[in-house]
Amino acid sequence: MRAVVFERYGEPAEVREVADPEPAEHGVVVRVEATGLCRSDWHGWQGHDPDIALPHVPGHELAGVVEAVGARVTGWRAGDRVTVPFVCACGSCPACAAGDQQVCERQTQPGFTHWGSFAHYVALDHADVNLVAVPDGMSQATAASLGCRFATAYRAVVQRGRVAAGEWVAVHGCGGVGLSAVMIAAAAGARVVAVDVSPAALALARRFGAAEGVNASAVRDPAEAVRDLTGGGAHLSLDALGAPATCGASVNGLRRRGRHVQVGLLPSPTGTTPVPMARAVALELELLGSHGMAAHSYPPMLELVRAGVLRPDLLVTSTIGLDTAPSALAAMDTARGAGVTVIEPWS
Ligand SMILES: NC(=O)c1ccc[n+]([C@@H]2O[C@H](COP(=O)([O-])OP(=O)(O)OC[C@H]3O[C@@H](n4cnc5c(N)ncnc54)[C@H](O)[C@@H]3O)[C@@H](O)[C@H]2O)c1
Ligand SMILES: [Zn+2]
Ligand SMILES: [Zn+2]
Repeated sequence: MRAVVFERYGEPAEVREVADPEPAEHGVVVRVEATGLCRSDWHGWQGHDPDIALPHVPGHELAGVVEAVGARVTGWRAGDRVTVPFVCACGSCPACAAGDQQVCERQTQPGFTHWGSFAHYVALDHADVNLVAVPDGMSQATAASLGCRFATAYRAVVQRGRVAAGEWVAVHGCGGVGLSAVMIAAAAGARVVAVDVSPAALALARRFGAAEGVNASAVRDPAEAVRDLTGGGAHLSLDALGAPATCGASVNGLRRRGRHVQVGLLPSPTGTTPVPMARAVALELELLGSHGMAAHSYPPMLELVRAGVLRPDLLVTSTIGLDTAPSALAAMDTARGAGVTVIEPWS
């Protein structure tokens, strides 16, 4: 099969022929029809993820068709249209037993712990625990976003953030995760302040329901701008980029008893990020992390998509082939594009 491969962190990836994957006995191989280009792929390429072994094939936000099925899989067969949470859970550890597959103790992640979906085919583990059927009528490009960023934003806003109608929600960083969060929070009846350094991203955020926009590169202090626009601070705020500046601005833009949800990955897995803890104490803030979303939590989100309340299809602003993927990954170093790029490996 053809796949995007990199041999060294941060050096150009290339498209080449590699061996087809085989399914594990509890897993499947999926023919990849669409796979999103997420900033987590860029983090992996930069060497920020200790799970990656070189050479490596990135890609974890995917949808496709089951091609081959392991002997112990009971719920899926060849030809099924599927997506998968990028955290593939084992189904049997204590976290999984508690229903928290998104933080499974023995998780695998395509594109991190093994080769991913910037390829014609990808192997996925524990199919009966992790696969999600793509509803009839949903395109594979739309379904791909449910594998990582849209589902992650849904859990961050609805489940971790406990968004409520009428609340102010600030979203720092309006790329794939952030725009999804804007759309989901607005649909829940929240008033959303979008924060980004890109005017194009802010324009999309307004299109997806943001009431206010803050250009972080044009104001002295984005947190102060959020507090001013929201009458004292947001009830809920997300760092949807993952940087010390956006993490700090998100916490500092909260009102008393507000909730911060950290979604953006921070540059080094072993490093630390300064967080304004004095403010967390004085204002009784909640500081939360959010990591993907378990397959069993998808039905309410899929129902909102089916009803047209949520429109992940609108997030896709660019569709490219496998050959363009290495340059698109490299362009994330400096990217100021807006919306989600989807790779169609067979196009
Ligand atoms: N926790 C999880 O489960 C999870 C899942 C998916 C992605 N992620 C992480 O979420 C983050 C976002 O991913 P993405 O694919 O949406 O990224 P993206 O590259 O699509 O978007 C990032 C956005 O941040 C904006 N930005 C840059 N500097 C900024 C600043 N100083 N202030 C405000 N905005 C700024 C950019 O203009 C861009 O619009 C990444 O760290 C990714 O690894 C985490
Ligand atoms: Zn991702
Ligand atoms: Zn587990």
